[in-house]
Amino acid sequence: MLHRLEEQSPDALLALIKMHAADDRPDKVDLGVGVYRTGQGDTPVFRSIKAAEQQLVDEQDSKSYLGPEGDMGFVNALMPYIFGEDATMGGRIAGMQTPGGTGAVRLALALAQKAGLKKLHMGTPSWPNHAQIINDIALDLETFDHANPDGTANVEAALSAIRGAGPDEAILLHGCCHNPSGIDYTAEDWEKLGDAIAETGIFPVIDTAYHGLGNGLDEDVTGLRSVLAKVPEAFIAYSCDKNFGMYRDRVGAFYILADGGETLDKAFTNANALARASWSMPPDHGAAAVRLILRDSKLTAMWTDELDQMRERMRQVRAALADAGTAGSVDLTPLGRQNGLFSTLPVSKDQVKELREKHGIYMAGSGRINIAGLTTNNIDKFVDALADVTGSA
Ligand code: LMR
Repeated sequence: MLHRLEEQSPDALLALIKMHAADDRPDKVDLGVGVYRTGQGDTPVFRSIKAAEQQLVDEQDSKSYLGPEGDMGFVNALMPYIFGEDATMGGRIAGMQTPGGTGAVRLALALAQKAGLKKLHMGTPSWPNHAQIINDIALDLETFDHANPDGTANVEAALSAIRGAGPDEAILLHGCCHNPSGIDYTAEDWEKLGDAIAETGIFPVIDTAYHGLGNGLDEDVTGLRSVLAKVPEAFIAYSCDKNFGMYRDRVGAFYILADGGETLDKAFTNANALARASWSMPPDHGAAAVRLILRDSKLTAMWTDELDQMRERMRQVRAALADAGTAGSVDLTPLGRQNGLFSTLPVSKDQVKELREKHGIYMAGSGRINIAGLTTNNIDKFVDALADVTGSA
């Protein structure tokens, strides 16, 4: 049978990790895959995670199965951070643990499809794996422009997709720190989006993978909360891989908002069955560590402090890029207003290649850069290289 398969190219983002590792230039710069780096270029394990892991080693007395929903202590402990004080919105939200944010997105779309979803609307560019998942489950996709050329969000395009949607259609939105553009909707935009979603009945799926890395833990979920307050049903895909630095441990959660307890229970049992058929149970270790952090006020303070430092460092890099003004034909000033790990530069695939081959600067072919890959040691080199390959304005 296997000869019938067509060769697939490796995931372009993940391939960059290997290309960068194989480059022996000492001043190479990795702006590829989305992992946070310190000013020294490292991606250390959080101190709060180390402390929680130590506690797990000392105290965990069994590794027996938990079930398809995973660690519910973890799922519930996260909820106030995402949904606010009334964390279940009066018993209308239920969640389960997933293998990373990808598992949550996959589960959300598969469950929506099982419930009769016909078409998904999504702003582009988006995280490339969104399209891969949508394609893999053979969901009909219609795209709209996420951003304007001036580096602001194109809310009109999203509104017109929402208003033009038929029954059994959904829209996938990035909760914060848009990947790959860094361009988020304003609070006012979110209000408009929520109103339009509520009016038309399109089903919102909100992917929140960078909570706390934009403007703050509360600030980054203002938009999500304003939509949820207006709609009867929604799905939320959540990742702890970035905001707890748990990347390879795959720590995510999937939440369902329903208009009543009975529907919520039904949806939850379906999510549970899909998870069982997909991965049976999510990996426990990372979620257990996050649960310990969120249940202990000292560890929570340590974690929020680490998150604050990450966010502040990225804001400093963004400010430095914006201060540089232009590099060749690229206007860097909008990057100062954008959020999170990523921004996308208006560079061609050839220019991306030249940055890599001539200057040892690795970034996605789309022009996306990982802001956290820049430090005081390499930011000037990056700006000069960008000027070199893009020429004068
Ligand atoms: C990224 O966009 O770089 C991250 O979300 C990592 C990934 O899985 O693609």
